[in-house]
Amino acid sequence: MTDRSRDRAHPPLGESGITEIDWTFAGADTRRLTHGVHSYPARMIPQIPATVLSHFKREGVIGDGDTVYDPFSGSGTTAVEGRLAGLHAEANDINPLACLLTLAKSRPIDPELLETARLRLLDGLDRELRRVRSAHDAGTCELEPSAVREGWFPEPQLYELVAIRNRIDELGEALSDTTADTEDVTRFLRVALSVTVRRVSYQRNGEYKRHRIPREDRKDHDPDVYALFTDTLRENAERMRSYSQRVDHAATTTVHYADARDARAVDDDSADIVITSPPYGDHSTTVAYGQFSQDPAIIADRCGYDEMKAVDKTGLGGAYGQEPIDDLERYSPSLARTLDALRKRDGRATDALSFFTDFYSVIEQVRRILKPGQPVVWVLANRTMSRVPIPTHLIATELCEQLGFERKHLIPRKIPTKTLPWENAPENVAGQTGEMMASEYVVIMRCP
Ligand SMILES: C[S@@+](CC[C@H](N)C(=O)[O-])C[C@H]1O[C@@H](n2cnc3c(N)ncnc32)[C@H](O)[C@@H]1O
Repeated sequence: MTDRSRDRAHPPLGESGITEIDWTFAGADTRRLTHGVHSYPARMIPQIPATVLSHFKREGVIGDGDTVYDPFSGSGTTAVEGRLAGLHAEANDINPLACLLTLAKSRPIDPELLETARLRLLDGLDRELRRVRSAHDAGTCELEPSAVREGWFPEPQLYELVAIRNRIDELGEALSDTTADTEDVTRFLRVALSVTVRRVSYQRNGEYKRHRIPREDRKDHDPDVYALFTDTLRENAERMRSYSQRVDHAATTTVHYADARDARAVDDDSADIVITSPPYGDHSTTVAYGQFSQDPAIIADRCGYDEMKAVDKTGLGGAYGQEPIDDLERYSPSLARTLDALRKRDGRATDALSFFTDFYSVIEQVRRILKPGQPVVWVLANRTMSRVPIPTHLIATELCEQLGFERKHLIPRKIPTKTLPWENAPENVAGQTGEMMASEYVVIMRCP
């Protein structure tokens, strides 16, 4: 692995051509390879890390065998692209489903092993699910329902989902005698189940928060669990086959199910580049990652109900926030101006301050983890609060500068497709609309 911390003259960090790139990537396939195995809210498009990585490789800033770190891994876009670029990947996330997806999407699996596992899982599954249905109808089903909230799933489909999960567990135990990659395989199978869980539930399509289809429509919601699961698994396995042929199987992905404000499991000076898209506000008033992940994680990965409820509280600016830092406004004049504007409105200044206090802790961690002179790439979406625009790209840049980072590029990026609830009310009041996110920026800075 390259140790650039000892380099005296730092490489130029994108002086040549990075601002000439068309960062909209209109028409690009954002679901290519394993990026298409599962949806995730506010997913970063893979073209951003792919472009950044190939640019910095060309410039000699990073090389094969280096490490890319992402403090906010989400569905693992950075990890997947890092591995495709020949790097090791390391990441943090507080959402167990995000950790599952990051590992499942970025660790390559031998296609033959995956095919063997897929066929074993499907062998007799159709019959078994029919038995589960009959037993349910006869009142003799002995399966333990998962700890999901009542009223979110049609029955007997909920029991069919549990039966598939149990089969994956059993297959894992059986395979562990013959292969060391059992967990990678079963994790990948769970992803297809997680997709199926969302489709089978009463969750409304296209919503990241927990909203059910209207009560009167629920009796007509009679999904075919077997077909949904097997189709998803076939498509996902095909995506993994293509991905696995392109990456170095000897590289590694390490994911920490832990808070990025205190990323103690990640070593000092261990990353050669950081590429990340942070949340753009606290989870409960912006994107509720925990709500999105709750049922899939509980059923497919046996996560606990309370564990999943804690995700949105641990998000930046959430209920488990830190003590305010008195000088934060002095560090960032843009933050000071924004808080003043919010104070004149309605007091949401406290929420904004709490979010950026948490953000500042993550920047401190990034400075510790990133080797001196190496780049951090923040993909930052701006939002409004109480109709006050929050210039996150400027605030983050100024907070980084306070910690000694050098500002290299602030590139505005137009977003051609709507992947987020743009028309949500900024105050999160049902029925009111307003521009939730105005723009996105790719901010490139150099670590001191
Ligand atoms: C915008 S998403 C990242 C999306 C990701 N780049 C992708 O392409 O899927 C932000 C992520 O940050 C995570 N997150 C929020 N607060 C966190 C914290 N304190 N520590 C670690 N992860 C956190 C959320 O769970 C979410 O997965």
